[in-house]
Amino acid sequence: MRTLVTYYSLTGNTRMVAEAIFEALPKPKELKPLTEVESVEGYGLVFIGFPVHSHSVPYRVEHFLKNLPPGQKTALFLTHGSIPGTRLSREALEQALILAGKTRILGTFACRGKVSNQAMEVLGKSPEHELWTEMAVTASTHPDKNDLEDARTFARWIISLASQ
Ligand SMILES: Cc1cc2nc3c(=O)[nH]c(=O)nc-3n(C[C@H](O)[C@H](O)[C@H](O)COP(=O)(O)O)c2cc1C
Repeated sequence: MRTLVTYYSLTGNTRMVAEAIFEALPKPKELKPLTEVESVEGYGLVFIGFPVHSHSVPYRVEHFLKNLPPGQKTALFLTHGSIPGTRLSREALEQALILAGKTRILGTFACRGKVSNQAMEVLGKSPEHELWTEMAVTASTHPDKNDLEDARTFARWIISLASQ
């Protein structure tokens, strides 16, 4: 089964996770930024990764997920600055599941990713983001070794499901 790992990443966190997933996969496989993928035709399985932006799926990824062929085997992965389980990351995952709803989603993986200084500066300016900023501080060491090991295990798990 030919597998594609594609990702959208502004500051490199999601790319790191994509690379870990890619490493764990058997051949034939390809790793490509989402902006370079024109079609997923010919891939038995597609891993799609993105960062959470403002509780949501970034626009480019939204478009990509919406246009996947029905029944396509997929696995989603995301990185986020907030504490796992809060609405700050959960809403984006829920949105992605809806957007890719016509595909056969075999699983999802999420881990924290450090927030760029630039984003921290902008977000820190508004009072409603105070707690968000506090959460983002403890994301500063992620994705770490364990996150990447989990990502590799996730990849192997998805492969075992996809070949059933
Ligand atoms: C503009 C912007 C908005 C963000 N909004 C959120 C958010 O709503 N919730 C969250 O958990 N993280 C948020 N983050 C943090 C990113 O999701 C996190 O740092 C991610 O790992 C970045 O991935 P990348 O390096 O692949 O771009 C935001 C980051 C940016 C730059």
